Amino acid sequence: MSGFVEKPEPLQVPGLVHLHTGKVRELYQNEAGDLVMVASDRISAFDWVLPTEIPDKGRVLTQLSLWWFDQLADLVPNHVLSTDLPAGAPADWAGRTLVCKSLQMVPVEAVARGYLTGSGLVEYKESRTVCGLALPEGLVDGSELPAPIFTPATKAEVGEHDENVSYEEVARQVGADTAARLRQATLAVYSRGRDIARDRGIILADTKFEFGLENNDTLVIADEVLTPDSSRFWPADQWQPGRAQPSYDKQYVRDWLTSPESGWDRKSEQPPPPLPEQVVTATRAKYVEAYERLTGTSWS
Ligand SMILES: Nc1ncnc2c1ncn2[C@@H]1O[C@H](COP(=O)(O)OP(=O)(O)OP(=O)(O)O)[C@@H](O)[C@H]1O
Ligand SMILES: [Mg+2]
Repeated sequence: MSGFVEKPEPLQVPGLVHLHTGKVRELYQNEAGDLVMVASDRISAFDWVLPTEIPDKGRVLTQLSLWWFDQLADLVPNHVLSTDLPAGAPADWAGRTLVCKSLQMVPVEAVARGYLTGSGLVEYKESRTVCGLALPEGLVDGSELPAPIFTPATKAEVGEHDENVSYEEVARQVGADTAARLRQATLAVYSRGRDIARDRGIILADTKFEFGLENNDTLVIADEVLTPDSSRFWPADQWQPGRAQPSYDKQYVRDWLTSPESGWDRKSEQPPPPLPEQVVTATRAKYVEAYERLTGTSWS
């Protein structure tokens, strides 16, 4: 079992048609046919959208994505049209609402990895490969890879696990040409992000992008980019291969949920419980810290 602990009721706004409730974002269409993407403060862990929100998370993710889109603009076009609030939208949407090009999404999670961990590590331990790509012997949790790799996954529905797939499988699904462009763009954007993050004392271990096609042709980067929700960021000064790395994301949430204190059994059918105040505060501080270190500007 997984999904939403409490399914949110989307706000109705005159002039906007509600399209979809994602784990974190609400999608609407405006009268011009553009996509209005509103990031909430929701947080997910272990395939559950938790019943507790992290204050400011939606604004932090939105502002960080906008900052990154600027850093990447010469590499790939992005989907942002405007940051203006749609007429009639509530004031609290400010800072977390983007008007975007409505794209035909490529149904692939475009993952790049520069370091070995997570599902990549699991596959490596079994077969010395990640997404079917052969890797050298002797790598451990947190090792830097000889070069970044493209390790695509199929996009799962809310509550389902994304599944790693081979490059050949992606090429079969989306066509050889789109697959090649997807890989090229993913690795180029990852490498730029990694270099910028490294200058700021942060290791970009891996990240997931979503791309869409404009006019059935141009590859455009969509969704959110290089945020703590879509990426593993590790403080560089604490990097030590051979163990799990401290990270700028949901680490406090995952640690608390799996601790005896939460009383929750991950493998049970039960939904996870609400987060205690100190976990919320510490998690908010991590998101803000990631924003501040990466952009070099203070949050408030
Ligand atoms: N420019 C765009 N055009 C069309 N759809 C988009 C665009 N940008 C993002 N999306 C879609 O909007 C949704 C954003 O919602 P949200 O971030 O909550 O994602 P999710 O798919 O539920 O979860 P996850 O991000 O973990 O995969 C995603 O389904 C994404 O594919
Ligand atoms: Mg998403």
